[in-house]
Amino acid sequence: GAADKGGWSSFMAKEINEQPEAIENTIRGRIVDGHVEIPELTALGEDRLQNVDRIIIVACGTASYAGLVGSYAIEQWARIPVEVQLSHEFRYRDPVLTERTMVISVSQSGETMDTLMAVKYAIERGVTTVSVCNTQSATIPRESDAAVYTHAGPEVAVASTKAFVAQITALYLLGLHLGRVRGTLSAADEAAAIAQFETLPEKMAEAVATHDQIAELAHWMADTRSVLFLGRHAGYPAALEGALKLKEIAYIHAEGFAAGELKHGPIALIDHGQPVFVLVPSPRTSPLMHSKVVSNIQEIRARGARVIAIVEKGDTAVLPFADEVVRIPLTDALFDPILQVVPLQWFALELSTAKGLDVDQPRNLAKSVTVE
Ligand code: G6P
Repeated sequence: GAADKGGWSSFMAKEINEQPEAIENTIRGRIVDGHVEIPELTALGEDRLQNVDRIIIVACGTASYAGLVGSYAIEQWARIPVEVQLSHEFRYRDPVLTERTMVISVSQSGETMDTLMAVKYAIERGVTTVSVCNTQSATIPRESDAAVYTHAGPEVAVASTKAFVAQITALYLLGLHLGRVRGTLSAADEAAAIAQFETLPEKMAEAVATHDQIAELAHWMADTRSVLFLGRHAGYPAALEGALKLKEIAYIHAEGFAAGELKHGPIALIDHGQPVFVLVPSPRTSPLMHSKVVSNIQEIRARGARVIAIVEKGDTAVLPFADEVVRIPLTDALFDPILQVVPLQWFALELSTAKGLDVDQPRNLAKSVTVE
């Protein structure tokens, strides 16, 4: 009932608003004396963590995009090659697994059958399994060698929001823990990441406050038939997630692309009035990527695209080429996607609402898919 929604129009709106708290709860207790420490990983034994030479993240849907975002951070901090495989594809490729492989599953519910079967396959092959999960004592964390809970609180809306940002946060903590134990993480990088975590909840609250601007934008775009999303580096999976949200709850055709891939095909889709969300990397922390994405914006604008740019506060480079500019707080590059995705969540919710659809219960979808 309405009471459960805490006064919000939908569970999804409530859960988007809970994101600052969700992140705080994922971090809580995991930064001790200036170090990231996940007790559940410590319990696996230092040797085991030091010996890992390859990580495969298995997940479906939104959780797989959290895995992709996380893969950039884990590689950077722990210097372990990470790949993300959709759970239902994983075992059919006869994956190369050794006792030094770690399989990390990501699942909000911990009950997704495709992901459970991937984890069971990994267990049979004798690899170390770690579950990133939001639901206490669900099947997947119980089956796994270690369970790292996201503590985002129950998520009711079918379209995942707060669980997504909590999953990324947990994967980042995991990457920092591995990097520390393996000696690949510098003290400076660890301190910088911890400083980011400390301010992330309040920055998330600012990102959530983009709602009114996005609601107005969605109002004018209610009859949109197709939307494209561009991102680069860890912003690329955030673009994929923005597109998925729109498909899921607004039933609009949407695609996410890596911005650099534009010239290899997708630019042919651009014609007059085509809306394109662009997640712009920070000009301070990622100047090279920033200038490349600004050129992408110019290229699509010249072909008639309607550009909605998600930029870091203070970035004025895109102003001449964007139809709409949405500003998010300053972070370090890896942390940008956690904030950039929020206006995309709001956009999907507001377009769904504008079309008179049921935001929380989209047609044909289930919160947790317990069949293969
Ligand atoms: C379903 C939901 C998606 C979700 C996916 C994975 O398809 O509709 O929103 O991302 O399952 O769910 P999980 O519980 O494993 O994260």
